[in-house]
Amino acid sequence: MGTWPSESPGRIPQPCVPSMLGILLLLAASLSAQNSSWDRPSCTEGVVSVPRGQRAVMACNMSNAFSDISIRLRAHGKTVTIFEKRPPGRFSRDGWTLQVHGGQAQLVITAAQDAHAGQYEWRLRGLQRTTRATYLNVS
Ligand SMILES: *[C@@H]1O[C@H](CO)[C@@H](O)[C@H](O)[C@H]1NC(C)=O
Ligand SMILES: *[C@@H]1O[C@H](CO)[C@@H](O)[C@H](O)[C@H]1NC(C)=O
Repeated sequence: MGTWPSESPGRIPQPCVPSMLGILLLLAASLSAQNSSWDRPSCTEGVVSVPRGQRAVMACNMSNAFSDISIRLRAHGKTVTIFEKRPPGRFSRDGWTLQVHGGQAQLVITAAQDAHAGQYEWRLRGLQRTTRATYLNVS
């Protein structure tokens, strides 16, 4: 009866690399599955249209609290910074009111004028940084 060459008894077993990699992947997946890690912002989408003189509301919510928020308005080829790195609180200027509380941010224009129309760029910071855009049309 023929015999196959057997492994030499003195051979050092190799560590099982694929299973270690598997554990690392599992760990990474479970960390990213934790809700608290990701801001997951949700903002008013598309175009908001209001008649001149009426109230306009735009909002962004996220699953983590805001650290700060900046809002820029682009219109007629110009970009104006309306609010820059505002922490939670309530801020007003030129007809805009920004309210930031926890994971909720709301931009209210009490009486929309032509000067308020354009593309609003929201720069959001919770645990990550995100940029979102909403368009305001004043008719
Ligand atoms: C994560 O979010 C889901 C759905 O929003 C919820 O059912 C679950 O309980 C949350 N898990 C944790 C650890 O907060
Ligand atoms: C933000 O949250 C408030 C309160 O839950 C809700 O009324 C509003 O529709 C939300 N807005 C967006 C854009 O998700």
